[in-house]
Amino acid sequence: MNTQVVLSLILVFLFFSAGSQAATITFNNLCPYTVWPGTLTYDQKPQLSTTGFELTSGASSIVGVPSLWSGHFWGRTGCFDNGGKFTCDTGDCGSGQVECNGVGGSPPATLVELTVAANKGQDFYDVSNVDGFNVPMSIAPQDGTGDCKPSSCPANINAACPSELQLVGSDGKVIACTSACWAFNKPEYCCTGSFAGGPDKCPPTNYSQFFKKQCPDAYSYAYDDKNSTFTCFGGPDYVVTFCTTTQKICIFSG
Ligand SMILES: *[C@@H]1O[C@H](CO)[C@@H](O)[C@H](O)[C@H]1NC(C)=O
Ligand SMILES: *[C@@H]1O[C@H](CO)[C@@H](O)[C@H](O)[C@H]1NC(C)=O
Repeated sequence: MNTQVVLSLILVFLFFSAGSQAATITFNNLCPYTVWPGTLTYDQKPQLSTTGFELTSGASSIVGVPSLWSGHFWGRTGCFDNGGKFTCDTGDCGSGQVECNGVGGSPPATLVELTVAANKGQDFYDVSNVDGFNVPMSIAPQDGTGDCKPSSCPANINAACPSELQLVGSDGKVIACTSACWAFNKPEYCCTGSFAGGPDKCPPTNYSQFFKKQCPDAYSYAYDDKNSTFTCFGGPDYVVTFCTTTQKICIFSG
């Protein structure tokens, strides 16, 4: 082989190893309505191959995630073409497109957060209502070792949302439930100012307890119980589901 051939082979090898996926995320939509998932990579790292896509009711889609990855997923609902600008009633990222291009969704939105470790180490994942709730979500590792329990927020919190936290759609139905931090922007709800530093400085409030009661697995506020974070070793793949199998009927707004 001449030098050029060897160089090309090295380049091809580098291309494939750099592009190798550590884990796959299978997104399932079991809701009776379309959800537009968004993906956000943290720490100024390159975004995933998709940062937003359409997932019709009953559909599945697989997205690859590299090892040593940290970010979150959420679902947008009530999306439509607003005079050429893609807009969503909940979870909108403001890009004007289906792809969010590295911008997160606007609260209130349920989040699934995931940190994929290098070398099949310890992954961390959770479901979060810290930025409120819009659609039931779950995350379940496949074939890992260790705890590897699925975590979910299966309840339709919109149906139970206190009036002062409700986000109401144009048809008058509750389409999302805001966290107290976003609704009132007070230190005791946001764990800021003299409430910053940890759970001893920022205890649960009646509003975070409302979210915890609805979805005990999920983070209900910034310094929630340690038991809201789930772990798994061995480089599992993940299934992220909108609405859940345990929920026979997913009624969106009560
Ligand atoms: C929570 O407590 C505040 C006062 O601290 C009260 O105004 C509000 O109605 C309570 N909300 C719920 C849902 O219990
Ligand atoms: C976490 O703790 C709360 C009580 O603080 C409990 O209701 C909930 O079931 C626990 N969740 C898990 C997944 O163990």
